[in-house]
Amino acid sequence: MKWIEAVSYEDMSQIAATIFKEQLKKVKTSVFGMATGSTPEGLYKELVKAYQAGELSFAEAKSFNLDEYIGITPENKASYHYFMDENLFNHIDMKRENIYVPTGDTEDIEKAATDYDAAIATVGGIDIQLLGIGVNGHIGFNEPGTPFELETNIVELTQSTREANQIYFDSINDVPTKAITMGIQTIMNAKKVILLISGTSKQDAYERLRSGEITTDFPASALHNHKDVTVIYTGVK
Ligand code: GLP
Repeated sequence: MKWIEAVSYEDMSQIAATIFKEQLKKVKTSVFGMATGSTPEGLYKELVKAYQAGELSFAEAKSFNLDEYIGITPENKASYHYFMDENLFNHIDMKRENIYVPTGDTEDIEKAATDYDAAIATVGGIDIQLLGIGVNGHIGFNEPGTPFELETNIVELTQSTREANQIYFDSINDVPTKAITMGIQTIMNAKKVILLISGTSKQDAYERLRSGEITTDFPASALHNHKDVTVIYTGVK
């Protein structure tokens, strides 16, 4: 695991953006794994800026998002579909048919999960998987206790995760109790992983990851078993 300390949130975003840009310039057909949350917003701004400046094109690239709430539609402003459109996809030239976000509002959610892994396999896997981290160490929506072997699956959200994500909803009662998420195995299958950690609320998570202990109680610790992980962190203490 490679650790890069950034001097600020902007610096963290720029370091991450450089890695994405270099990948895309090298391989136009790159497949990116995207994440939601406040942490990657700065990275997405950098990528939009680079596209608008004519520095790069996503026309042949593909992306797969990590997760989505169950029971809300893509039009819902709190959905991850909506977040990704607002922060990235509406502002770059990635083709709609190449943008994958797990479906959270379908009758057959189990099938949606299996289909998601199949779709990732069909395009040859993810080149760079972007991750944030939850205060309890979750990655995607893989909460503590999740077996590392799981692929895309349906999860119950913990109370702490629902509370942390309440800011995107009118009240805690509106925060869904379930989500569909790439499993830890799906994440581990990516060729390269970039994990962003920012802010003092993530201090415990940062320290626990840095300790090197590998346990299902702390989902992000699975990444110690991956051969190409870069953690870019800032303001964690
Ligand atoms: C959510 C997402 C995660 C994300 C986490 C942290 O639970 N499912 O993918 O990493 O929040 O979000 P933030 O970056 O806003 O702290």
